[in-house]
Amino acid sequence: MEQLVLDANGVRVERIGAEGLSGPDWARALEEAGKAHAEMLGRRARGELGFWDLPGDRRALDEALTLGREIGARFDDVLVLGIGGSSLGARAVATALGGPFRNLEPRERRRGPRLFFPDNADPATFHALLELLEPERTCVLAITKSGTTAETLAQLAIARAWLGAGARDRIVAVTDPEKGSLRRIVAEEGWRSLPVPPPVGGRFSVLTAVGLLPLAAAGFDVRALCAGADAMRRRCEDPDPGNNPAAFLAAALYAYDRRGKNVHVLFSYADALRDLGAWYVQLWAESLGKSEAVGPTPLAAVGATDQHSLLQLLMEGPRDKVVVFVTVGDRGAPVPIPAWRAEDSALGYLGGKSLAALIDAEAVGTQAALEAAGRPTLALRLPRIDARAVGELLFLWEAATAIAGPLFGVNPFDQPGVEASKRITQGLLGRPGCEAHREALERRPPDDPAWIL
Ligand code: PA5
Repeated sequence: MEQLVLDANGVRVERIGAEGLSGPDWARALEEAGKAHAEMLGRRARGELGFWDLPGDRRALDEALTLGREIGARFDDVLVLGIGGSSLGARAVATALGGPFRNLEPRERRRGPRLFFPDNADPATFHALLELLEPERTCVLAITKSGTTAETLAQLAIARAWLGAGARDRIVAVTDPEKGSLRRIVAEEGWRSLPVPPPVGGRFSVLTAVGLLPLAAAGFDVRALCAGADAMRRRCEDPDPGNNPAAFLAAALYAYDRRGKNVHVLFSYADALRDLGAWYVQLWAESLGKSEAVGPTPLAAVGATDQHSLLQLLMEGPRDKVVVFVTVGDRGAPVPIPAWRAEDSALGYLGGKSLAALIDAEAVGTQAALEAAGRPTLALRLPRIDARAVGELLFLWEAATAIAGPLFGVNPFDQPGVEASKRITQGLLGRPGCEAHREALERRPPDDPAWIL
């Protein structure tokens, strides 16, 4: 079976000269990645690495499929309330597998309800969405691992009132099996629910009910998604970092970070992978950005679109970036370009080619141009965008993040900075127990009008 390929030729000295990975530095980075990998597997053995074995969790998959199918058969629309790790993974997969226009397709073609991820607490978006949907035909999935996140609970309160008398039957929760306000609410209201395994952090939870339930409800092939992730899991257990895609990827990005290249760009050549970029940014930033000494900055771009925006900076700006291309082998319908005005030099050569050939050539050309400029690149080649390949890609980045944590000397599984901001917000809005955070805000030096223009 074809599988995801990591092609690292774009970091070889022969390709990019002095910026290439070679010699003792690279040997040391690989060796350290091997140790970080062993440490990670040690955590797994101690039951501390919740996400690692999710692809083989048949029970979670079956539960999500059973409830998801039922929701899919009953409703036209599924409104997913969740933010950060409780939304980005499912949205990334839904866009990858359904494409950017799935919600506009007729039901027979999309084989399941429409999916909406408002994510943000922006009143304009949420209000507009509720105006468009019909309460009688909508299932609300409330997804929050902690069960206390303000954005999600606020949207849930609004959605419950909007659903009216039928709310009990049309709300399904995904949350911690025991703790948190949402778990208590579920018990009292008699809503149906699925658990998030406590050792699995939000941004690593796409293969729990957090991602699987909305995706199964919409009719996506979550079995193949998990099978792809499981295949990648096995590859990422190889103790040889030179043969382990996650350890290699983490080692290369870490080695470059040590050389001051701490901006890591995921450049995906497919619109369907646009939301995967947002998922990657959260995973890499929230897992690794927790020390003033280290912390790579992730960026996401979509090719060829961002060749007309970000590429100038990548080509000639500061040499602080590594670009990871994501390319696609078989794009399905290639969409031929008809011959037209053969005598026009800007147009003639395109006739008889296809949009697939054009976007693929743009990916190859951009990577080659970066190489020629001595800029390091890696490539992740998907055979096609299907559930299996997306599962491989998700697990590869999760495993690389788990290995990068010890390499960078940080715990990739906590997020103290996010928690601090949550508490200040709650303090500002008057949540009992958060008064100190509000008071700290009030003690700030007052605004100086001279700085307000
Ligand atoms: O990765 C994380 O832990 C966070 O991004 C959370 O997913 C996010 O803050 C939402 O948290 P919760 O699922 O508890 O609502």
